[in-house]
Order: sequence, then C-alpha cells, then structure tokens
Amino acid sequence: MKKHWLILVAIIGFIKGASAQIQLAIPIPDTLSGTSLQLTMHEDSVSFFPGAKTHTLAFNQYAYLGPTLMLHKGQQVNMTVSNHINDTTNVHWHGMHVAAVNDGGPHTMIMQDMEWNPSFTVLDRASTYWYHPHFHGKTAKQAIRGAAGMIIVHDVDELALPIPHRYGVDDFPIVVQCAQFDSLNQPMPLGMQDSTLLVNGTRANNGYEAFLPVPAQVIRLRLLNASGERSFLFGFTNNMSFGIIGSDGGLLAAPLNATRIRISPGERYEILIDLSGREGQSLSLMSYASELPVGTQGGPTMEMGEGNPPMDSPLNGIDFNILRLEVQAATNNPIIAFPNALVQVTPIPESQADITRTIAMTADNALVMDGPFYFNGLLYDMERIDYHIPINSTEIWSISNQTMVAHPFHIHMVQFYVLDRDGNPVSQHERGRKDVVMIHPNETVRFIARFETFADTTIPYVYHCHILMHEDAGMMGQFVVVPDPLGIESVSDITESKLYPQPTNDLLRWNLLPNEQQEALEIRSISGQLLLKGSTESFIDVQCLPAGMYVFQLQTSQRTQRTRFIKN
Ligand code: C2O
Ligand code: CU
Ligand code: CU
Repeated sequence: MKKHWLILVAIIGFIKGASAQIQLAIPIPDTLSGTSLQLTMHEDSVSFFPGAKTHTLAFNQYAYLGPTLMLHKGQQVNMTVSNHINDTTNVHWHGMHVAAVNDGGPHTMIMQDMEWNPSFTVLDRASTYWYHPHFHGKTAKQAIRGAAGMIIVHDVDELALPIPHRYGVDDFPIVVQCAQFDSLNQPMPLGMQDSTLLVNGTRANNGYEAFLPVPAQVIRLRLLNASGERSFLFGFTNNMSFGIIGSDGGLLAAPLNATRIRISPGERYEILIDLSGREGQSLSLMSYASELPVGTQGGPTMEMGEGNPPMDSPLNGIDFNILRLEVQAATNNPIIAFPNALVQVTPIPESQADITRTIAMTADNALVMDGPFYFNGLLYDMERIDYHIPINSTEIWSISNQTMVAHPFHIHMVQFYVLDRDGNPVSQHERGRKDVVMIHPNETVRFIARFETFADTTIPYVYHCHILMHEDAGMMGQFVVVPDPLGIESVSDITESKLYPQPTNDLLRWNLLPNEQQEALEIRSISGQLLLKGSTESFIDVQCLPAGMYVFQLQTSQRTQRTRFIKN
C-alpha cells in the first residue's frame, strides 16, 4: 500500500495573525531490519503543490524518500537494490565503512529493471548514516526527486547509554531538504533559488507548517541535511539550548551544550533536547540563517554590485521555522536528563601520519559562484585514479578553498578527525568522527584518517563536494586503497625513519637512528621487483621512476625497514 505522506494530516490553523497555514504532521518512515534487506527504487508522484503532480523517485512503499534502515554493528547485511525507474541509477551507503565493491559509488551502475546485491558486515559505530543515488552526473537530479533515506546503526555501547533509543517515540529521524521547483512544479537540480522546505518529505513553509508530536521528556533528534546545496544553522525558538551527542560517524565523548548547530549538505548531527515539564507547549526547530557567513549557501546574499538580477532564494540570510515540536504527555520510563558521558572517542594523533595530501578547491576565476569547481584544477574523470593509498596508511588531507563559496567536502570509506581550520583548533562538536566537513572560502581545513581495510586496486572510492550540483559538474576525485604484498610494517612510531618529502618529485630522504649503520638500500615496486639500489648516503634520487607508489627498503646494522612512498 502506498503512503501519500502529504495527506496524512491536514488541518487549517491560524498562526499568530499570519495567514492560514496548512498543518502537516511529518511521517516517521517505517524501518527495515534483519539480514536481508530489499530496496526498490521506483517512480511516483506527490501533490506538493495543490492540484499539481510532482514526479518523484522513492523506495519501497513510499512515494517520496524511503524506509529507515535499522542496523546493528557487527551484523551481516545482504541487500537487494532493484531499479524500477526509467533510468540508470545506483545507491550509496553514505558514511558506512564498506568495501569499494559494496559502496555504491559512481562505478556501480544498476541498469533499468536490474538489481544489485551488495553484502557486508556492519563495521560502523552507532550513528546516523544515509543512502542516496550516486550515479555520476545524475546524483542531484535523482536525490532531489526523493531517492534517499536514513540509516541508523546501533551498537552495544550506545544501547547501554541512558539516552533515547525508541524510534519514533523519543528518537526521531529528521530529514531536512530545501529544493527549487520549476513552473511545472518539478524539482530543479540546478536551482540557486531553492525555497521549498521539506521535512521527512512534508512541506514545511510557504503556506505550510510541519509538526511533530513529541513527549515531555528528553528526546533525541537525528538531523540530516539531505539538501542539494543549502546549509542550515539549526536552533530552537527562544534560543533554547540542546545537547549535541553525535556527529556523522559516531557519538561524542559527552553531550555538548549548544544553541546552534550548522549542518551542511550530507552532514548529520544527533542532538538531545529536554522537554520535561513542557507538556502543552510548542516550539520550533529553526534555521538561524541570518547568522551564517556570507559565502555559505543559505547565508546572507553576497553583494553583487548594481544591475545584477537578484539570484538568491528568499530564504537566504533570514531566520525561519522548519519543524514545530508539539509537546505531549511523557511516555512510560522517560529519559529525564542528559548523561554526563557518552563513549570513548580517540582522535588519531597527528604524529602518526605517513603523508599529507594537499587539495585545492578552485574555479576558473575568483567570481565564479555556481561552478564548475575543481580539485587541484581537475574535473572528475572516472578513468583517472587521483591517489593510490597504501593500506594501513594514516593520512592528513589538507584542503584549501580558493573559491568564493563554501564547499562541504565528503570522503567515502573512512571517518576522519578534523585537525584544524587555518591552523586553529576546531570547536568541540567537530572533534568527533566525521565524513563531511564544511570548508569556507579562503579557509584550509586539515583532517586525519586511517585507511586500514578493503584494499582493492580496481574499484576506486570517491571524495567530492556534497553540494550535489558541484559534484555532478565534476567536483570529485577518486582513490584506490592498494594492498601491501611485502607485509610492510607501519613506521608510525619510529619518527626518525620517516621518509621525506612525501610525496616526492626527485629526492627521497631519511634519517638513521643514532648508532646504526646503513647496509643496503633498495627501491622496489609494490609487487616486489627491484628497481633502484642506493649507496650509503641517506637520500636517493627517484626522479627516473614513473609516478606511483613504491617501497623503500632499508637494511641497517640494527633493523630492516620497509615503507611505502609516493613518487609524483
Ligand atoms: Cu553522500 Cu559520495 O556521498
Ligand atoms: Cu558517501
Ligand atoms: Cu562545492
């Protein structure tokens, strides 16, 4: 049976002297759980606008969006993803740590009327993830038509905590989207004038108000920004404070008190709000977009000089309501306080990094606002591998934004820890596990991640801007995680033996430990073939080697060291 979400509840109400607004209760999607999950993407339609049909994409019984996948860390999942739309597609498990072949990136294609069967063990920590199509060039078009859904992972540590866990009772999925519709009421993937808000697929502004009945106790909101381009600065009516408990890839060490949380496209944050004693009241989840910086899509409009037509959405730079919480009676066994502590979070120390990669976000000139945008001057090329990452590497990615708009950078396969913004420590809520990080104009953000599993030299993982229009236009790159046939040990704790610079163009240098003599030095291919022999000097010229990954093998009076390095 189809659920047409928009006709669930429609009461005409009058809000404080404003004109009549149609009140719509947001639906809580059903869950799919167990080891065999079936997702069928199909075409449908929804009457977002009275008397008009908007053509949508959705999963299973829904006409827009899809069920929530409810998984448990350690479980096995066998998915069947069926394509019943009139186009090629695929589905990506955003934020989950799976092999490239199961990741649903641009290299996976599900032809019309075909199915795809990824299967994997859930290795992720308890958190909020999501799924959406990722077909190169069509991601925006398909995702903003409704092909998306939430993934919730639980684990034993999280289930043992005194926080809300009852889905749809005190623990709520909140999928916020903002889209632009054309004169025929169809979503426009390239809209810069996105002004129609949807919460769990329910209209939430311009004559509509979305609401959610919630109990008068501590509740948990899983906030996902599934918009193509807009960032939100979430907060509540009257600046009510809340507790941030989780970022993209897991819970934080402890709840953080806040009155605002900025969520850019693709990001998730989990928050707790204490509604104890508020039965009968109502308050709204809002975006305080007037406080977003200029240059962030959704923030105040950039000064464009005279004569330029207004090209921004009327929602830009203003504060607006998104979802009204209608506080009802408390449930049995309510959670009535925030816990003091959550889980152990162990950031990767910067000293463990094997390499720093430098990525510049660029555009054709300094005034470009709508793309194309590049990574290091290049557009995405499915045939080009941008990075070969040796398995077990710990890498710092240093990404600088040389454009005038903010870009949410996302990487597949790993969760990372943000090290700093322009060298300054990041705020507490950005110190947990993340897979999307917003990078402002003229800002450099560094993160650190470990690539410890799923070596596969054929199928790459991607990284990209999560503004879907930028991604589709080519603001994406890809890497493979390469295996280590020589059983190379990690040298992360022997800093004296680090190779530098990394990557290198010509000379590769190292330091000997005190009291050791160099006996043999070899450069080998990753498959073990001897390519160069060194002298007794502590450097070697590798300029003659083609760009790629190699093995440095050092024999000293005291030890043998094998380390990977990259030649540019
Ligand atoms: Cu939300 Cu490449 O993904
Ligand atoms: Cu992803
Ligand atoms: Cu971008």
